[in-house]
Amino acid sequence: MSPRSGAPTGPVPPSAALLAWYDIHRRTLPWRADPLGPPPDPYAVWLSEVMLQQTTVAAVKPYFARFLARWPTVETLAAAADADVMAAWAGLGYYARARNLIACARAVARDHGGRFPDTEEGLRALPGLGAYTAAAVAAIAFGRRAVVVDANVERVVARLFAVEEALPAARPKLRQLADTITPDERAGDFAQAMMDLGATICTPRSPACALCPLAGGCAARAACAQEDYPRKMAKRDKPVRRGTIFWLEAEGHVLLRRRPPRGMLGGMRALPSGPWQEQDPALADAPAPADWRALGGGRHVFTHFALDYVVVGSLASDRLAEGEWWPIGRIEEAGLPTLFARAAALARSQTEKA
Ligand code: ADE
Repeated sequence: MSPRSGAPTGPVPPSAALLAWYDIHRRTLPWRADPLGPPPDPYAVWLSEVMLQQTTVAAVKPYFARFLARWPTVETLAAAADADVMAAWAGLGYYARARNLIACARAVARDHGGRFPDTEEGLRALPGLGAYTAAAVAAIAFGRRAVVVDANVERVVARLFAVEEALPAARPKLRQLADTITPDERAGDFAQAMMDLGATICTPRSPACALCPLAGGCAARAACAQEDYPRKMAKRDKPVRRGTIFWLEAEGHVLLRRRPPRGMLGGMRALPSGPWQEQDPALADAPAPADWRALGGGRHVFTHFALDYVVVGSLASDRLAEGEWWPIGRIEEAGLPTLFARAAALARSQTEKA
């Protein structure tokens, strides 16, 4: 390509090479505005960015569609009952995000007339809206220059600059390096281009460097060491905790209880369960005195620990135990988080056999 007369010459900055690649190869995703269409809806951008934290694009798509269909604006979400939003979030994980989502929607509706602030600082001041989301929404929804760094971006930057410092300590350095290549214009497209590059080309294993628009300037590739970056601290094994989950049936219903607002799966509807600790699970925290029978068990892996759980079941003669008695045939509608949905499936498969 020859430069137009008067145009600056010299090496193409990474942002220009990346944006040119993005204009051709961008992924079509439900929350992305069409480049030739109307500007993005800040509410949809915010909702997608909250859902996409620690969660794959494939997992987010159906939730995003359901939320937008049910709560098409921030005002409608702000007016929703907490329990409905928590139940709609069930299965997506990291439930603190759903609680923060509700708090943030209500603040936007109440204090900002239903319009999201259009700067990174303004967004950051909303309750439950963290640094990542503020940067992402400012850049993608409002075209502000903001440095947006998620795990994909961290990997691209660590390779591009062959950063020797290991994650997680390297985070401030990776952010600062991402800042050096973020353009003043099209920062939202740039952020999403970095994410797409990380998701489709600069992948954790076997990156497709032959297709990469940044390969020419990539320090890790020059050293033939792409897969050695980002450097990572050796992971310690996750601690294992144990717990008992109770399946108490009566008259075609099962006993559910809402979990305390703070703590693991806080605010979610759940099967009753004892504390999750290192000791062997016990029956001491049973929701009612009963003749408990072991139905099976499994392992559920959370971010900071694994839970080895045992499901025990019993049949009661009445529905007096305190909680919400839910029709067993409609248990899928209870909005149980994955751990309890699995435990319920296990219990049903055992009790229906018996
Ligand atoms: N991950 C987080 N935000 C994203 C976005 N806007 N596009 C693709 N992947 C993402």
